[in-house]
Amino acid sequence: MRFVKSVKPAAAAISLISAGIPKSLDISSTTSVQSVAKTIAQNTMSFYKGTDDQFVDLDAPYYWWQCGAMMGSMLDYSHYTGDHTYDKKIATAIVAQAGPDFDFMSPAHAGQEGNDDQAFWGFTVLAAAERNFPQPRSDIPGYLELGENIWKSLASRWDTSTCNGGLRWQIFASNPNGLDYKNAVSNGGFFQLSARLARITGNQTYVEWANKVWDWTQGTGIINEYYQVLDGASSAKNCSDVSAAHTPSFSYSQGIYTYGAAVMANISTGADQDKWTDRTKRLLESSQNYFTPFGDVKNSTDVMYEHACEHIDICNTDMRSFKGYFSRFVYASKIMVPSIKPTVDRLLHTSAKAAAQGCQGGSQGTMCGTKWYVDGFYGDAGLGEQMSALETIQGILIDQANPPLMGDDIKTVRTFSSSS
Ligand SMILES: *[C@@H]1O[C@H](CO)[C@@H](O)[C@H](O)[C@H]1NC(C)=O
Ligand SMILES: *[C@@H]1O[C@H](CO)[C@@H](O)[C@H](O)[C@H]1NC(C)=O
Ligand SMILES: *[C@@H]1O[C@H](CO)[C@@H](O)[C@H](O)[C@H]1NC(C)=O
Ligand SMILES: *[C@@H]1O[C@H](CO)[C@@H](O)[C@H](O)[C@H]1NC(C)=O
Repeated sequence: MRFVKSVKPAAAAISLISAGIPKSLDISSTTSVQSVAKTIAQNTMSFYKGTDDQFVDLDAPYYWWQCGAMMGSMLDYSHYTGDHTYDKKIATAIVAQAGPDFDFMSPAHAGQEGNDDQAFWGFTVLAAAERNFPQPRSDIPGYLELGENIWKSLASRWDTSTCNGGLRWQIFASNPNGLDYKNAVSNGGFFQLSARLARITGNQTYVEWANKVWDWTQGTGIINEYYQVLDGASSAKNCSDVSAAHTPSFSYSQGIYTYGAAVMANISTGADQDKWTDRTKRLLESSQNYFTPFGDVKNSTDVMYEHACEHIDICNTDMRSFKGYFSRFVYASKIMVPSIKPTVDRLLHTSAKAAAQGCQGGSQGTMCGTKWYVDGFYGDAGLGEQMSALETIQGILIDQANPPLMGDDIKTVRTFSSSS
């Protein structure tokens, strides 16, 4: 990803208030949620030109990582709604990225691959493993092995030359913007993958790394005293330049760390469990930053928004998708730490209703917009907007879905022919 250092103003936002019937989402009705999610999933997939047998890159302006993120959103769609229409396309897209060493260092995408991009595909690969998702190609290892390979590749780049450790944002010198930056999403991605692999395998190496990456992140102040996850720090300055006043913060980083902490709480016992549960709760409390406090305007309290950019209309293409991953991981967190369910449901269900009422754009009057705290459709109808609404709405169904699998419940490789 390559946004932080150049937050460019987006094109002037257009406000289109559709005269169509607002999408009314009845969050207490599974059928209503499934049907709204189905429409938004269709909208999401309209950006993808691949087939059941062939991967195709997303068109500009969408980077390679966003395709990985999209396949993750669609995996969630399949799992939460039970609609398997897109499964083969999703699986084909995922395994096509494995690369010669089966670690998602895809030579074709090297120009667009930083540690965070690889981690995003990693989230998707582990989600496939945790659901025994069918795997379409016998010449490629199963999802769990792919996920472990991604983890090893990230671990090999842990860099102690500055800042006492940490992953840099970029991998290749040919992507100089970000080589001297250690950021929350790369390290948070590595942290969350460590936690999930610890849960899946029970291997202590992953537990140790989850602790190490967490401690490093707090040590730099990227997770600050208020449990706000800030964007990153400069390795050229030995990570001494991070501050809430000058460093932006994005919802997805908060969500990525929250889920990692929740998974650690779930697999820990005794004092460790208390410690990780406390961290999960503090991260969630701090997430309140990403929900509107504007109670006096259009009843919009507790509606999710990207506070670094959204209300001033400068979110770029990547940023408009962040609310989706934030929702994904905050919903997933309540499965790991059930005591946070009331808070999660209050925030995300309110946001889901608000998101749905804005899905009135495009020629069919169903495309979702950028801002949810205003009446009707507002902003653009891009892929990020669809994914953000999709994850926030379909996540309502998470309590009815099987929790992520672990241990021997994860089967090595399931093919499509034997699965349906
Ligand atoms: C960089 O910061 C770390 C603490 O984060 C410190 O241990 C180390 O000595 C610092 N290095 C330099 C060269 O200042
Ligand atoms: C634990 O995981 C690490 C990292 O993937 C690996 O090197 C090691 O072999 C694993 N240990 C066991 C006992 O599987
Ligand atoms: C806010 O909610 C109240 C009570 O549900 C309703 O009467 C009022 O019309 C709403 N205001 C707006 C601007 O939607
Ligand atoms: C861990 O997560 C499972 C769902 O996978 C849940 O049933 C269980 O209560 C959680 N355990 C703890 C200690 O919170």
